[in-house]
Amino acid sequence: GYDPATVTETGITLWEFSEDGLTLRSKLEIEAAMRSDPARPIMHFSPPRQWMNDPNGLCRIGDTWHLFYQFHPAGTDWGPMHWGHAVSTDLFNWTHLPVFLHPEQNLWRLGASGGAFSGSAFADRDGSRMFFYTERLPAYDLFAGYREVQKLVRPGRDVLRAGSSDTVLALRPDGQGVAHDFRDPKVWWDAAAGAYRMVLGAAIHGDPAVLLYGSDSLSDWTYLGPLYRAPAHYRENGARAVECPDFFPLNGKWVMVMGFVGYTEPATGRHNLLYARIGDFRNDRFVPDADDLQVLDFGTDFYAMQSFEAEGRQIAFAWLFNWQSRKPPGSPYSGEMSLPRELGLDGSGRLVMQPVAELDSAWPVSLLNSEPDGSVLLRDAPFELRLTGSLDGTKIVATQGGALSFELSVSDDRLAVRLAEDDGKIRYEATCGSATDLRVIYDRGILEVFADNGAICGTRRSYSNIGPDRVEVTSAAQFTVSERRAVR
Ligand code: FRU
Repeated sequence: GYDPATVTETGITLWEFSEDGLTLRSKLEIEAAMRSDPARPIMHFSPPRQWMNDPNGLCRIGDTWHLFYQFHPAGTDWGPMHWGHAVSTDLFNWTHLPVFLHPEQNLWRLGASGGAFSGSAFADRDGSRMFFYTERLPAYDLFAGYREVQKLVRPGRDVLRAGSSDTVLALRPDGQGVAHDFRDPKVWWDAAAGAYRMVLGAAIHGDPAVLLYGSDSLSDWTYLGPLYRAPAHYRENGARAVECPDFFPLNGKWVMVMGFVGYTEPATGRHNLLYARIGDFRNDRFVPDADDLQVLDFGTDFYAMQSFEAEGRQIAFAWLFNWQSRKPPGSPYSGEMSLPRELGLDGSGRLVMQPVAELDSAWPVSLLNSEPDGSVLLRDAPFELRLTGSLDGTKIVATQGGALSFELSVSDDRLAVRLAEDDGKIRYEATCGSATDLRVIYDRGILEVFADNGAICGTRRSYSNIGPDRVEVTSAAQFTVSERRAVR
């Protein structure tokens, strides 16, 4: 048990938990404690303590970025879900705020698997702010295991605390084969329809699906049909439902992004992937440009991505985790977010991602020189490699005390990543074709790879061997190795 976090009017007193050892702490104390953890990634967002998963409610209000997240305030494992909250003016330096959204009426005490699940922010045409989320309740029907309903919550007096939630807005459609997975709402005003629209992740007769709902009022929602239903192949290979569907306009097209919980690619054994489809959205139908799904990130730890639009940019965060990972023993927290990424479309109609431009102002680069033997010594700071030119034959080897930390290599149009914890076997790989650019960002165990102008992204969070002290690059391409240092 714990008492809800408290906040003062000045926002100085940020957290208070009675039983888990976290006492009243100021912003400076929280930040000092986070900085003193030698295993915590430096540039990437993580919660001060306890368990975090999906990014939620992402938005910009005035000059402030808001990052909410799935949060279990009473432990470092997944548990009854709350929304954690942090704010920033540059997308990189965050102030941690108290829990924003608590499960209704402490119902979570009745069943450990419930709570305030993932959801997103919405600004109405008059500028009013609200958040849509899923509430998972203990089941009334034992066989269903749980019941998921969609709710709306408006901020209280300010955006520091949630007001009270409305009652249930959207119900599972009857007689359509939709079972208990029914979650993760994303809402927009659809000018063409002159009405509100919402997508939800679910399954139809066991096939992962994105459901489309419509409303004139924001409080009464009607099921309009499936926007996407995955072919049987996915169900046959373990997929149980779509999670965290994202659906948004981008450069004249519409983009759908989703995860298939439980799915493993039979040919490669990969799981925990996100998939994108680009197409047109007309008359409540999504017509994709291609049959294939684009793998959004070929790594193994990029999940539950949520994007949002701010001043013409589509920005996204994802949760860097994988249920197969071993968590670091004894860590005071679990879970990190990806760097904020800006989304775009390239000339071949692929969704591309790159770290947002604010990275360079918040964490400027400073070039590192190489040693006489050509290798580059690393300090305990985030570092970045950039290569331009022919990548074929490239090899990047990072070591810690002479032992492999990670290795990236390109040959025969394949980009392969090897990691210490897999005894140097290939952890993940992608076809990079004739790409002539490669960018590698490393931050205490988080490896983010961007190639082909961001069409190929691969992310991995490792918990062992997280402090490489030397990197060696062999390549016909031009390259730089730099360190990133905070400005403040
Ligand atoms: C994805 C997810 C969502 C759900 C949330 C619960 O990681 O399973 O579908 O809303 O996490 O924490």
